[in-house]
Amino acid sequence: MSSETRINAVTTLAHSGKVAVIAVDAPPVNALSAAVRQGIAAGLAIAADDAAVAAVVLICAGKGFFAGADISEFGKPMAEPDLPTLADTIERFAKPVVAAIHGTALGGGFELAMACHARVATSSARMGLPEVKLGLIPGCGGCQRLTRLAGAKAALEMITSGNPISAGEAHSMGIVDSVGGVGVLREVAVAHAEALAGKPPRRTRDLDARIKEARADPALFKRFRAGNARRLRRQDAPDQAILSIEAGLTLPFDAAVRADTEAFDRLENGPQSAAMRHLFIAEREVRKVPGLPPDLEARNISRVGVVGAGTMGGGIAMAMANAGIPVLLTDARQEALHRGLATIRTNYERSLKSGRLSETELEARMELIVGVDDIEALSDCDLIIEAAFEDMEVKKAIFSRLDGVARADAILATNTSFLNVDEIAAVTSRPAQVLGLHFFSPANVMRLLEIVRGARTGADVLATAMALARRIGKTGVVVGVCHGFVGNRMLARRQRAANQLILEGALPWDVDRVLYDFGMPMGPFAMADLAGLDLGWTPERSTGSTMDELLCEAGRFGQKSGAGYYDYDASHKPKPAPIVEEMLAGLSVRAGVERRPVSDAEILDRCLSPMIEEGRKIIAEGIALRSSDVDVVWVHGYGWPAWTGGPMYWAEHGALAPSATPSAERPTSRKQQ
Ligand code: COA
Repeated sequence: MSSETRINAVTTLAHSGKVAVIAVDAPPVNALSAAVRQGIAAGLAIAADDAAVAAVVLICAGKGFFAGADISEFGKPMAEPDLPTLADTIERFAKPVVAAIHGTALGGGFELAMACHARVATSSARMGLPEVKLGLIPGCGGCQRLTRLAGAKAALEMITSGNPISAGEAHSMGIVDSVGGVGVLREVAVAHAEALAGKPPRRTRDLDARIKEARADPALFKRFRAGNARRLRRQDAPDQAILSIEAGLTLPFDAAVRADTEAFDRLENGPQSAAMRHLFIAEREVRKVPGLPPDLEARNISRVGVVGAGTMGGGIAMAMANAGIPVLLTDARQEALHRGLATIRTNYERSLKSGRLSETELEARMELIVGVDDIEALSDCDLIIEAAFEDMEVKKAIFSRLDGVARADAILATNTSFLNVDEIAAVTSRPAQVLGLHFFSPANVMRLLEIVRGARTGADVLATAMALARRIGKTGVVVGVCHGFVGNRMLARRQRAANQLILEGALPWDVDRVLYDFGMPMGPFAMADLAGLDLGWTPERSTGSTMDELLCEAGRFGQKSGAGYYDYDASHKPKPAPIVEEMLAGLSVRAGVERRPVSDAEILDRCLSPMIEEGRKIIAEGIALRSSDVDVVWVHGYGWPAWTGGPMYWAEHGALAPSATPSAERPTSRKQQ
């Protein structure tokens, strides 16, 4: 290889025989900033003029290929060349250009790769178009080029979900031309470019087999919209992406890309994208904890103990096993342990059936979760998470036992959703090594982890919990001790408001509908039915003075008993229950409240305002470190619609308040804890 020419601070040009290699090194993620775009354009110009160059490789140093447009440049005019122009320059380049992809190729980065004439990737590479997660669509030809490479159906799925695919998948879909080893990517790419040298470049814009195929199935878009109506409701970006892909089947390529660029600009200036960019920053801010030195080393966690094999304990064990961490699971009752292990297997089998897990992966994960009869068996764990019954005395008893059993340096965590972590820590001889790890149900799915910092929790213990959160794919948010922490403390206010509303005249399904239409996965009463109304209820102590109690007295325990606030059919589909209406009428009379019609606007305001008020108190008290942490908690733990930016952002940007639209379906989704 001949000497390297430095083009600018982030770009170099080297020659390998007749192949010119343009390499970009712009830490941390090779975002396509002005300097990067200018460097690539200048490298191409040199390669164009150099008669000795017959082909070009575009490669990145560092963690991965380009991570997309530089988010910090959003909202500002884009310095020349802009990304659509650069993609166009690459595609029209007279000599073949090969993209060499490692790590992740995202957004504009993947769009540039698709504008190249061939793509080679390492087997561990991932690529995708996450723009919808920022309220945007691929704005430099990605909608059109992906459709030409992989077909309209694949483009619809990838672009509206924003989820990346593996190099292997990309290869089988026709996006990547060859997949190879990690250490030799540059050599593989150069060899690929040499093989293409002298041939006319294969331009993605000219491929039309997939376009013809999509044109032959015009109902595809209608089917896709109907099939994804619930997931995509009220969001501007995925809606626009579908329109763009559909329009691209008939518009000339350049006109289609121009329309996409205009749509991108419109979305970029719209409220949903601003809100989602706020969340992107918020998700990275949560990792910064004042007083915690960034170089503080996390402890090694190589074995985790879980006490309690119920829904939460089982889910936590799965979350660990999914990240390759060995788990010892125990329960005071043997039959509960066996049931818990069986449920874990059933859950994995469901993933196997849906193709998300292979048989080998299933067995490997089950092997990582070992059931043990005695808590003593947890003596060699680095971290023990208690996920037992939500009762202070029960938890204290477990912690004093654990304190005797666990290694002196082990961390003890409670998965309490409300209780005082300091009181629990006080029964141990190691309060600095005690904290709360509040998972959200289902713990193997929900991304939020509230990391509850006790008054005496050590900084390294906190750092360890944060590192663990990342390792198991969760967003860890550090919160302080109070009843219900951030999420459940706010949720309690909403529940109280909802209970009051149905006493005054609203019906449970009205409240649920309004919150569902706002964008929540389900309303409070559907959620209560799913969680079970009898949590903590006993017939002896029932006073018949709340709807929950009345329903339990009537044997309506929620979804599991086929009836609660709603009636459920065999497929768990909820139906408004006339008897609940009668019970409510009686309850209002006994409470001396005259029932009246309650408008949707009043329902929304009275459910959400108290939450916001509580959020503000939580921030003022320092329970949450910053307002945007509260947004992250609600988006990742409770399914608050990301396109509103989270409750606190939404409250500050009132213009976003959505108008009520009719719900497409009834709420039936994950429960929260
Ligand atoms: N533009 C500018 N900065 C970016 C960026 C982008 N496209 N993507 C990431 N960054 C920044 C992050 O803000 C973070 O900055 P900080 O250290 O000051 O907080 C830093 O790069 C590292 O990112 P992080 O997400 O912490 O690293 P990671 O290794 O966990 O993940 C990625 C790397 C690329 C997978 C991830 O950053 C990502 O998904 N980025 C967004 C990609 C995207 O949406 N592109 C489309 C834009 S239209």
